Amino acid sequence: MNRKLGTNGPLVSAIGLGCMGMSGAYGESDEKEAIATIERALEQGHNVLDTADYYGAGHNEELISKAISGKRDKAFLSVKTGQLYTPGPNGAMGPGPVSGHPNYLRNAVFYSLRRLKTDYIDLYTPARVDPAIPIEETVGALADLAQKGVIRYIGLSEASADSIRKAATVHAITALQIEYSLWSRDIEAQIMPTIRELGIGLVAYAPLSRGFLSGEIRTPDDLKDSRVNMPRYQGENFYKNLELVETIKRLAIEKSCTASQLAIAWVLAQGDDIITIPGSKRINHLEENIASKNVKLTQVDLQRIEEIMPAGVVSGTRYPERYMNALNR
Ligand SMILES: NC(=O)c1ccc[n+]([C@@H]2O[C@H](COP(=O)([O-])OP(=O)(O)OC[C@H]3O[C@@H](n4cnc5c(N)ncnc54)[C@H](OP(=O)(O)O)[C@@H]3O)[C@@H](O)[C@H]2O)c1
Repeated sequence: MNRKLGTNGPLVSAIGLGCMGMSGAYGESDEKEAIATIERALEQGHNVLDTADYYGAGHNEELISKAISGKRDKAFLSVKTGQLYTPGPNGAMGPGPVSGHPNYLRNAVFYSLRRLKTDYIDLYTPARVDPAIPIEETVGALADLAQKGVIRYIGLSEASADSIRKAATVHAITALQIEYSLWSRDIEAQIMPTIRELGIGLVAYAPLSRGFLSGEIRTPDDLKDSRVNMPRYQGENFYKNLELVETIKRLAIEKSCTASQLAIAWVLAQGDDIITIPGSKRINHLEENIASKNVKLTQVDLQRIEEIMPAGVVSGTRYPERYMNALNR
């Protein structure tokens, strides 16, 4: 199942693969299994591989380079950049500010190409809008890279409707990557109408709300990684949201699919201009997620889901306050 990414963009797989978790974001990862997962995605024509230069500080790109070796043309590489690291206590590195400075982007892209062992990136995206740099300057630098053939398409991530409009005056924006799922629907009011008006495709990330919508996370003890800091998975919110997951599981049984498949199918049913990148480091989950394309949700199904699980029903924000404040709104 392929979809066009943006009105004038490329044809890509509607279900791609988010590779972030392969570099430690959600616990340990087995390199062999991770590489095999990417290879399986490509074998099955699910070509969108989403990464960032800051996932594992370059580790994720190096991992992908191993998996795509000899088959670069089968992959559509979606690479994000601009999230800086900053030294923390005891030599640890933590997320710092973002940079959309033209010099930073021009430099970062060459490191990415080197790690990915390729001479072009399909879709290059500043991970966040840099509040200190006019978005026109950031996109101007990307336009220059596109003109030189180093990147093929330009993306934005977590940008506001206003920033998207300004960016689109400088160069065609092919896609907006942003969190979108049954539980993260705040983009529907302003951002979705804006990208639709401008012919920009949507790359919906975290369609499983970081694994929670799969129903496999049963107790707070199941989470031993960055998710423990997320309000949705803390205290009372955890248990309230678990009840919602039970509802999703019941709906899934009726549709003869899994909760994850229902959640992914719901995202894809919100428009032909949407693709999604569920994250997984395991072949069995990848295959389950890919099979979501066979789940057909009728208008009646969608209406029922809407009644049972309307926008805003989830308890807790999708990021801790510090990260919420860093979003461009
Ligand atoms: N632009 C941005 O700011 C931004 C932010 C976050 C993420 N992203 C991108 O979006 C991608 C997806 O987001 P995400 O990984 O945060 O969240 P997600 O796709 O909602 O969920 C990923 C989590 O769900 C689990 N999972 C996946 N399929 C499953 C299944 N069928 N059954 C049970 N569990 C399953 C994964 O575990 P296993 O690995 O064990 O399968 C992982 O822990 C990332 O990989 C990254 O590329 C972008």
